[in-house]
Amino acid sequence: MRYYFLLFTVAIFASCSNQNKQNEVLNLYSKRHYKVDKELFAQFEKENNIKINVVKASSDELIERIKTEGENCPADILITVDAGKLYKATSENLLEKVILNEINQNIDSRVIDKNGFWIPITYRSRVLAYNPKKVDVNELSNYEDLINEKWKNRILVRTSTNAYNQALLSSIVAHHGEDFALDWSNKIVTNFARNPKGNDRDQIRAIVAGIGDVAIVNSYYVGLLRSSEDSLDRKVGESVKVFFPNQKDRGAHINISGMGLLKNAPNKENAIKFMQFLTSDYAQSYYTNNSYEYPVNTNIKPSNIIAEWGEFKIDSLDLNELGIKRTKAVEIFEKSDWN
Ligand code: FE2
Repeated sequence: MRYYFLLFTVAIFASCSNQNKQNEVLNLYSKRHYKVDKELFAQFEKENNIKINVVKASSDELIERIKTEGENCPADILITVDAGKLYKATSENLLEKVILNEINQNIDSRVIDKNGFWIPITYRSRVLAYNPKKVDVNELSNYEDLINEKWKNRILVRTSTNAYNQALLSSIVAHHGEDFALDWSNKIVTNFARNPKGNDRDQIRAIVAGIGDVAIVNSYYVGLLRSSEDSLDRKVGESVKVFFPNQKDRGAHINISGMGLLKNAPNKENAIKFMQFLTSDYAQSYYTNNSYEYPVNTNIKPSNIIAEWGEFKIDSLDLNELGIKRTKAVEIFEKSDWN
């Protein structure tokens, strides 16, 4: 009998604590695929006693899902790795305005949403990783120059269906127009070292394998390779150098990882707490030291691994343009020879 009583008591306790946890939840729809997120989410759960549920998929799939689920959508926050997709969610009327100052007063003004719908988490640049044994740094200048004949059979980059490349081309459309972008896209293909394949890290590995000399990649992948547990990857990361294009003109293309509060969010208060947490000094420092992205909180300095590349001029294009020009950029890629 005593045994049954004990079991009963334990069951009541378990259901109470479960209920508490169930009351405090936060549901994320996220495109991000990095280990650092998981670690930071766990920290947030512990500090706030709020359970985080994550659904991962591509940004387009998540946006479709939010639209289909409508008022029944359980998600509070949409996280993407591209301002363009947050712009898309905004223009589909899915996001609610958030007052930046209520989230964090130290966000870098260069990477904010001027319309007030999304909050940046980190930023990254699409840089040139190059083989210093094959490339004199003085030969490198800007994205536009990559169509120069001197780069024949030397350029490595992934396919044109990749969102990072689509964002880069969107910025080229914004700066130079559609005809220029199509011409650039067709001509750069003639300089490719191989048919586009693999992810950003694979392009850097291909430099070290001698397949090509210059890779267009996101900056943090070099940091991730240099700090990898795999000794071969560490060697790969250390064998290449990083060049920020367009420093003498508009600055290097950047994009943000960011988040938007969903209009139908069932747990708005928790969502705001989470946004405050991810932009806090603690989380920003954690990001830069573990994912090697750039912090958006101006109190925090980049990690040593990427700080050695120095400060760089960033393209001041309104990041929403990466969404506004996206459809055109995708059409141009489809018309061009870049597969
Ligand atoms: Fe990535």
